[in-house]
Amino acid sequence: MDIVIEEDGIKRAKIAADVVERAIAGKDHPAIGIATGSSPLPLYDELVRRYEAGKLSFANVTGFTLDEYVGLPPGHPEGYRIFIEKNLTNRVDFKPENLYSPDGNAEDILAMCAEYDAKIASHGGVDVQVLGIGSDGHIAFNEPGGSLVSRTHPEALTEATRKDNSRFFDYDISKVPTHCVTQGLGTIMSSHTAIMMVTGENKAKAVRDLIEGPVSARCPGSILQHHPDITVVLDEAAASLLEIRDFYVYRWQTRIS
Ligand code: GLP
Repeated sequence: MDIVIEEDGIKRAKIAADVVERAIAGKDHPAIGIATGSSPLPLYDELVRRYEAGKLSFANVTGFTLDEYVGLPPGHPEGYRIFIEKNLTNRVDFKPENLYSPDGNAEDILAMCAEYDAKIASHGGVDVQVLGIGSDGHIAFNEPGGSLVSRTHPEALTEATRKDNSRFFDYDISKVPTHCVTQGLGTIMSSHTAIMMVTGENKAKAVRDLIEGPVSARCPGSILQHHPDITVVLDEAAASLLEIRDFYVYRWQTRIS
């Protein structure tokens, strides 16, 4: 795990964009795993900047979104596919037919999940997976206590997650769906490279459990300690509970690359 602690938001976005750019460079048909949430937005803005500057093209890129609510009416502004279109793919030369997302309104949810995993596998996997983390340690929508090797599956949302996400639903938790479909931890772990962005003090405990805790279904994100190529980009507040913060800073500053 590469851990970057950086106070400057522009620098954080550039470091994350470099990871994405490197992972897709030179590939004919690369695949990006695209996350929702506020944490990766500066990264998406930086990718758009590089596209506008003519340095990066998404014309041959395939996208797989991480998750989706179950039961939101099609076209709902908080639908996750719409979020990804608005914040990334519609802003660059991404071809809409190359964007795949789990269908939270599928008649047969389990069959849809199996097809989604098969689609990712048939593409040869995700080259670079963008991630955030929830305050309860969830990644995508894998809540505590689930299988550490799961593939795409339906999931119930914790009250903590629904409360966190109620800010997108008029701060009314009753409007937040109770269930979702999500790439599993096994699906996410199959990505070749991963980049996680986390900011803010409310994520500090999840970040400590992610990086320094035992690998445990209690903090689903902790499975990423087994990921062969992941960079976690933090601000100081998110890093504030790390026991050996200074070593991580030293290691990043003196890395041999
Ligand atoms: C959501 C998403 C996750 C995201 C998390 C954190 O519930 N399913 O993929 O990482 O929330 O979101 P934010 O970055 O807005 O804190």
